[in-house]
Amino acid sequence: MVKIKLVSLSMVLSIALFLCIGSYASFTPVDNYLIACGSSQNITFQGRTFVPDTQHSLLSLDGGSSVVVSSKATTVPSPIYQSARVFTSVASYKFEIKEEGRHWVRLYFYPIPKSERNLASSSITVVTDEFVLLNKFSFTNYNGSFMFKEYAINITSDSLTLTFIPSNGSVLFVNAIEVVSVPDELLPDQALALNPSSPFSGISKLALETVSYFDR
Ligand SMILES: *[C@@H]1O[C@H](CO)[C@@H](O)[C@H](O)[C@H]1NC(C)=O
Ligand SMILES: *[C@@H]1O[C@H](CO)[C@@H](O)[C@H](O)[C@H]1NC(C)=O
Ligand SMILES: *[C@@H]1O[C@H](CO)[C@@H](O)[C@H](O)[C@H]1NC(C)=O
Ligand SMILES: *[C@@H]1O[C@H](CO)[C@@H](O)[C@H](O)[C@H]1NC(C)=O
Repeated sequence: MVKIKLVSLSMVLSIALFLCIGSYASFTPVDNYLIACGSSQNITFQGRTFVPDTQHSLLSLDGGSSVVVSSKATTVPSPIYQSARVFTSVASYKFEIKEEGRHWVRLYFYPIPKSERNLASSSITVVTDEFVLLNKFSFTNYNGSFMFKEYAINITSDSLTLTFIPSNGSVLFVNAIEVVSVPDELLPDQALALNPSSPFSGISKLALETVSYFDR
């Protein structure tokens, strides 16, 4: 059994839900974007193939100028962090969505050291048309060398636009992005809210951020 705790971006809401790994494993997502940003080749990570952002036919990168940084150093936390696309102005990735509904959106960040730009001091803002996923995040205030963020977003149109907004004269980067369909039964619309402890419905309209998982 896996226990997932989710926190809404706009209010303090915790829901606990339990699911069986068996039914999850057999699910084939309709939308399944695994994108290695700035990479020149496919990257296999945890048994899945991430495709370079320039080579995916259903993905477009709009606006802004960008450069690529990469590292072959053995200190890179995992293969997915070997490359990054670095934006110097506002830019966005547009994903064509085949099936509306809830999707995982996963973002991977690792400020590759010794690149021409000081990525660790980047100020990172990421928004969708509806939600702010990251607001001026910077590794200078973060106790970790890399960061993984996961959101569950109900997409109600035929595309998802992720816009990356640098601020304060800094650059911004991203190493990898996933946009993957979630089976509907995984997130029931009505679940028990732990704080406040009353039934809460309307979860389908919110963006949820996964904050912890896996019972020990
Ligand atoms: C990269 O992966 C994609 C999707 O799995 C595949 O279609 C493509 O042939 C791969 N490209 C190379 C160069 O291996
Ligand atoms: C940063 O992480 C290290 C190792 O996990 C820990 O020992 C330290 O207390 C943390 N520092 C802060 C400010 O959270
Ligand atoms: C903006 O950049 C300047 C110079 O690098 C720095 O002193 C200041 O703290 C930054 N402000 C924010 C809000 O990050
Ligand atoms: C997504 O939102 C639409 C419109 O609000 C709703 O009808 C649908 O049930 C939601 N889907 C999920 C999986 O939450």
